[in-house]
Amino acid sequence: MLANGCITWDDSSMSCYSTVVITGASSGFGKAFAYRVAESRSRQACAQELRFVLIARSEDKLKALADDLTGKYGCDVVVLPCDLADGAARASMLQTVSALRSDWMMLMNNAGLGDYGEFCTSEPERNHRMIEVNMTALVETTRAMLPAMLAARNAYIVNVASLAGDLAIPDFAMYAASKAFVTSFSEALRIELAKTQVHVTAVCPGPSHTGFGDVARRTGKSKKEVPFRKWFYTSVECVVDSAYRAVLVNKARCYPSLKIRLVGLFVRNAPLWLLRLIMGSRPRKAVPAE
Ligand SMILES: NC(=O)c1ccc[n+]([C@@H]2O[C@H](COP(=O)([O-])OP(=O)(O)OC[C@H]3O[C@@H](n4cnc5c(N)ncnc54)[C@H](OP(=O)(O)O)[C@@H]3O)[C@@H](O)[C@H]2O)c1
Repeated sequence: MLANGCITWDDSSMSCYSTVVITGASSGFGKAFAYRVAESRSRQACAQELRFVLIARSEDKLKALADDLTGKYGCDVVVLPCDLADGAARASMLQTVSALRSDWMMLMNNAGLGDYGEFCTSEPERNHRMIEVNMTALVETTRAMLPAMLAARNAYIVNVASLAGDLAIPDFAMYAASKAFVTSFSEALRIELAKTQVHVTAVCPGPSHTGFGDVARRTGKSKKEVPFRKWFYTSVECVVDSAYRAVLVNKARCYPSLKIRLVGLFVRNAPLWLLRLIMGSRPRKAVPAE
């Protein structure tokens, strides 16, 4: 409900809903995940009781997604436009999501951005945004929703990390470090919540064709300068399908697709000296000429 520009919740009616909050729902994995959940719940004939809260900056894209989800699956959708890098905007969003109550809750902390290129030439402003969106917003949203999730019958926290979080990556240093934070935070939170009905899963995809690459590419750089090979990509469908299945069976981590699982396995078990050697001798496509 919208009252005076603010969203208010009728708690009594909320309790019969399943609530799914997705950050970064305007494109890529977040958007595809919303469809995946809606499809799955509609097969179980409970889509009418499904309420989405969609968060991102692009209000127009969120509204189009909301209309489609309502039209196709009959679910309730609340659009919450918010720049997660902006502390004040985040505080108002957190107030709204912390007031949500329902029996079945899912929070997908998915919003994120990267930056291809050397750290020494990175823009401080973009680094700050990466920290705010990839880490601060994820932590604050999780903290704000946890009391309601602990009171729910079943609750799921889905943190979108990355395969990059398992490895220190030159020309992707800040991003990989921010995702290492997400994976580590998710693992610890999962252990803390082990005796509760709140399940935590870290999703660690490899490269995938979403809006991510265009956002991460620096101005003036060509598509050839992104650091991944074609064969290494996983489809968006595979990522969200693997993620959703992993969440429902309460897996700690999900590496979507066999190749990403194998690379992840290698990276997590290889000695550091070998990883340093490999990463140090890798062709550095994103390196500036000077
Ligand atoms: N694609 C890959 O290769 C890949 C691989 C591993 C992990 N991931 C992770 O997957 C997650 C989703 O990314 P994606 O691949 O789906 O890329 P995407 O298509 O670019 O989606 C990113 C989402 O994050 C939102 N977002 C970005 N900055 C925001 C901000 N300041 N405030 C609010 N929302 C913001 C975007 O919405 P607005 O622009 O509308 O704000 C968009 O909905 C990210 O955490 C990314 O790190 C991606």
